[in-house]
Amino acid sequence: MTGQTSSARAPTVEGKMYHIMLGPGDIPPYVLLPGDPGRIEQIMETWDEASEVAFHREYRSARGVYRGAEIAAVSTGIGGSSTAIAIEELARIGVHTMIRVGTTGAIQEDVKVGSLIIASAAVRYDGASHEYAPPEYPASASPEVVLALVEAARRLGVDYHVGVVASTATFHLGQSRPGYRGYEWSKSRERIEDLRRMGVLSFEMEAATLFTLAGLYGLRAGCVCAVIANRITDEFVPGAGVREAIMVANEAVRILQEADRGKAGMTHSITDLAEAVRRLYGD
Ligand code: URA
Repeated sequence: MTGQTSSARAPTVEGKMYHIMLGPGDIPPYVLLPGDPGRIEQIMETWDEASEVAFHREYRSARGVYRGAEIAAVSTGIGGSSTAIAIEELARIGVHTMIRVGTTGAIQEDVKVGSLIIASAAVRYDGASHEYAPPEYPASASPEVVLALVEAARRLGVDYHVGVVASTATFHLGQSRPGYRGYEWSKSRERIEDLRRMGVLSFEMEAATLFTLAGLYGLRAGCVCAVIANRITDEFVPGAGVREAIMVANEAVRILQEADRGKAGMTHSITDLAEAVRRLYGD
């Protein structure tokens, strides 16, 4: 046996959370959440200072400084189950603001590959969030984080859309792709067209879990995704828009920190954020 033992109900190893292998104070409370551990390096390259902190299973973490803002990134792996573990453990070590930086497949023709989607809310086909709250509970992004992401995208001059995404538990049937040997059933076949008619912008796999848990726990959460596929035009360009999504998330953290610094002890409010944005950019 290695490491100190802990309670099975709240597992830790030598004071670190069992999965993410981080403890209180190891990373700043503003965290970017890519799915892919490989994306941590790409994120670190955009910071002024960066160091890797831990790497255990799919959870790779780094901390650094982006234009004066203390920032961290932790990969979640793919899907709601591993994302829920990351959020549970990050909350326990004091993280309060989380921005998913991911990729997504558009289901509206006018949402171009290479553009960004800032999620205002997510349809809960993720599976994991249903272990936390009934289907009627909304998976909504925090208004402050949406506002900061929009402001960041505007200032960086990137092409972005704001709206509802659908988070699925699987990449294939959950997103109306045929399974092995063309397997499908009525529900998987019809989902994409139903959601398209509802105005949902895209498929991805983690936002609903993040938004639901953040809502339940009083944490702030947002999501910016690079559109790497369009299911209507059948285009697929891996990596398209990913750097832009990272830069928008970095900049949003800077905006939120500026807002938070200005309000010492006050509750978070959109007015404070708007003021901070004006101070940063001199509008
Ligand atoms: N991520 C998804 O979940 N689906 C896509 O089509 C592209 C990225």
